[in-house]
Parts: sequence; structure tokens; C-alpha cells
Amino acid sequence: MRFDVMTLFPEMVMTVLGESIIGRAQRAGLIEVHAHNIRDFSLDRHRKTDDTPYGGGVGMIMTCQPIYDCYKSIVDEIGDGGRTRVVYMTPKGRIFNHGVARELAEYDNLIFLAGHYEGVDQRVLDEIVDEELSIGDYVLTGGELPACIVIDAVSRLKDGVLAAPECYEGESVASGLLEYPQYTKPREFRGRAVPEVLLSGDHAKIDRWRLEESVRLTRLRRPELLLMHPELEEPLLPKKKGKRKSKGDE
Ligand code: ADE
Repeated sequence: MRFDVMTLFPEMVMTVLGESIIGRAQRAGLIEVHAHNIRDFSLDRHRKTDDTPYGGGVGMIMTCQPIYDCYKSIVDEIGDGGRTRVVYMTPKGRIFNHGVARELAEYDNLIFLAGHYEGVDQRVLDEIVDEELSIGDYVLTGGELPACIVIDAVSRLKDGVLAAPECYEGESVASGLLEYPQYTKPREFRGRAVPEVLLSGDHAKIDRWRLEESVRLTRLRRPELLLMHPELEEPLLPKKKGKRKSKGDE
């Protein structure tokens, strides 16, 4: 799968995605990431990429021409390379989640526009963008990190990027429930013991405990997710359980 990011800060994108699992996936040829500097496409003699807004107001607006020409050069490069979707990262977009990541993973090419300043001229958005996406209800200084987040979440769904598919199937949110707590050695840390059941060797019991913990955490922190799993609510758990010693649960 190929990802292209149109940005004023290509190094920001390549640095973030050059590390860890996504960096390794690129080096293994499982995914391709290309960052394109919009400024390189500006026909302005000062290589300008923004201008003042019509109608007045503060801030600068990214102009159509450099973005459109950047987009055209990417499309030419991709050529006949399969299904392509163009995504503009903006707080005004549809909220990104695991389901959206799965949808996007079906494409062969994703082209991202990472906006800056106060916005982008609407006409170039109308011309090239298929979808606007937001990574949450807060405003960042630009769309580069949001684009990296989407690329990370989509890439890890592609074959071979993670060591084993079961790595993602049972995970928080991907399964519709929050992930149960995990423990490793030592058996005791600052007086906190690993739950006995995990040492029991009884795998049916361990699976049940993990599911119960997932449901408990989900009910506590993200009750709206449980609406998608009515079958888990009834038989599994008494509605009220004793409080646990976890700083995050209050
Ligand atoms: N650009 C700035 N803030 C953003 C957000 N929350 N999501 C996507 N793109 C953005």
C-alpha cells in the first residue's frame, strides 16, 4: 500500500514514520510513504503557498495552485496503481476510529493533504478531496501528525506489518471492548501481586477473567462501546464490583 502526504513539512512526516514498526514496514517494502513539499510546486516567484482571506479576517489561507499541482504530480506518479482516496486532515472532518482505519486499508493508495495556517482555499478541496478526517475534538497546529496517526493505524492492518494477526484482533477498541490488563515478571512489584488466576495455568479460567476485565473496564470508561455488545452485559458480571486499586479508575 502506498501513502502520499502533501505538506509544507515533509521531514516531519518522514521522521515520525521512519521509526519503529512503520519504519521497518517501509524498509521491508510492505508499505511506501512519500512526503511531498507543497512549496516545491508553487509558481509564485517567492514560492508562496498562502495568501490573505477574501472577505477579511485574521490568518493566512493556503492557495489552490501549489496544492493542485502537487496532487497532479502524485496522481501521475501513481499512474494505474489501483484504488486511490484523497483525505484532508482537519478538525472539521469525520472522527477517525478503528472502523475508518479498516475502510481505508481497502485502498491501494491514500493521498493526504496536511493543512496549515487558518485553512485551505475551499475550491481546491472541492476539486481533489474525497473525504475530510479529524483525529479528535482538539485543534493542532497542522495536519502532519494527524496524517501520521492515520497512516500508522492503517499500516498495521496490512499483512506482514505486525508479527502476528492476533496482535491486533483482541486489542482495545479493535474488538469493540477495551483491552484487559496485562502483567509480566516479576510476580510482585512494590507490594502489588499479579492476579492469581493468571498463574493458575487454567486457560478457560484465564480467558473468562480477561473477558470480564475487558467488560468491567469498558463499562467504567467507555460505556457507549458496550451498546455494540449487548450479549456481554447480562450473564457476565454483577453490575457493581468492588473498587480496585488503580489510579486511573476514579
Ligand atoms: N489539523 C489540526 N487539528 C486536527 C485534528 N484534530 N484532526 C485532523 N487534522 C487536524
